[in-house]
Amino acid sequence: MKALQLEKPQQFRFIETPEPAAPGHSEALVRVQRVGICGTDYSGFLGKMPFFSYPRIPGHELGVEVLAVGDGVTNVRPGDRCSVEPYMNCGECFACRKGSTNCCENLKVLGVMMDGGLTERMLLPARKLHPANKLSPEQCALVETLAIGCHAVNRGNPVAGENLLVIGAGPIGLSVIEFAKLSGAKTIVMDLNKQRLKFVRTKMGVPDTICSRGDGGELVALKEMTGGALAQVVVDATGSNKSMAEAMKYCGFTGRLVYVGITQAEVTFPHAPVMHRRELTLFASRNALPPDFTRIIKLIEDGRIDTRPWITHHAVLDELIAKFPTFAKPETGVIKAIVDME
Ligand SMILES: NC(=O)c1ccc[n+]([C@@H]2O[C@H](COP(=O)([O-])OP(=O)(O)OC[C@H]3O[C@@H](n4cnc5c(N)ncnc54)[C@H](O)[C@@H]3O)[C@@H](O)[C@H]2O)c1
Ligand SMILES: [Zn+2]
Ligand SMILES: [Zn+2]
Repeated sequence: MKALQLEKPQQFRFIETPEPAAPGHSEALVRVQRVGICGTDYSGFLGKMPFFSYPRIPGHELGVEVLAVGDGVTNVRPGDRCSVEPYMNCGECFACRKGSTNCCENLKVLGVMMDGGLTERMLLPARKLHPANKLSPEQCALVETLAIGCHAVNRGNPVAGENLLVIGAGPIGLSVIEFAKLSGAKTIVMDLNKQRLKFVRTKMGVPDTICSRGDGGELVALKEMTGGALAQVVVDATGSNKSMAEAMKYCGFTGRLVYVGITQAEVTFPHAPVMHRRELTLFASRNALPPDFTRIIKLIEDGRIDTRPWITHHAVLDELIAKFPTFAKPETGVIKAIVDME
């Protein structure tokens, strides 16, 4: 079979790989139909992703078709189209035992710490497949990105009528926006990039945006938009430690701040007065949970999430090496690039 491997940072190579074995107990053999490309893949390409090891076949946002199943598999059948939950958890650690499989202590993410989906066929644990026969293969590939936002919003737990500020309108911020809107919270989006804010207003149906200029005008604008209350929930999806440190000041009294963006840099903020006086709560948000996938598939089926604005770029596998560098650059207008593996 043909697969695309990242040999080392900045160097892709097509390789021949052996055909997978027949599926064993609780496994499924799948044909990869579509692979979404995201910032994680791009960071892996650049050599800036700390968890990425080489050589590696990337690809964790997958739309697949089941070809065969092993003994004991009941959740999927040959012919099923599925979205893949790419978080391979151990099932035994403290987090797994309490159901927090998203942050298993021994977690391996497909395409990051183990080979992923830029290949023709692969074996997967059947429990990681979420059937989605009414979705298109590319919609299946989009579910994982949406799941990141779904979990982040669940962490902040907004209720209808609250104000929810999303900072950062990249693909992860947009996935947060989808679930912020569904929660009934008044959603406000902040970014430095005017083009991305325009996308939010025109394609995501969120009229209230704030262009962050770092001059204090952001806080004034947020106060105006919220009648002085600020945001009960703030989700930072920038990955910028500077933004993450500042984000607290946008939280109203008793507010919740969720960090869904990731940084390895220090995030420094004074505890008092803001965090203490307003009695704020800070949440990390990692990956997503199995019920998030089920929920998202249903939301897309029911037309409550419109995936049309999302998929902006396409490639077939043979074109990917050439097109890949443009697939993570906001200047190209990319939200989600999808690789057609068929
Ligand atoms: N929690 C998870 O499990 C998870 C999963 C995938 C990705 N991520 C992380 O989510 C983050 C966002 O990913 P993405 O693909 O959307 O990235 P992206 O770079 O496309 O988007 C980030 C956005 O934040 C904006 N931004 C940056 N600094 C800002 C600031 N100071 N103020 C306002 N806006 C600012 C940028 O203009 C950009 O539009 C990354 O850190 C990524 O690693 C987290
Ligand atoms: Zn991704
Ligand atoms: Zn575990």
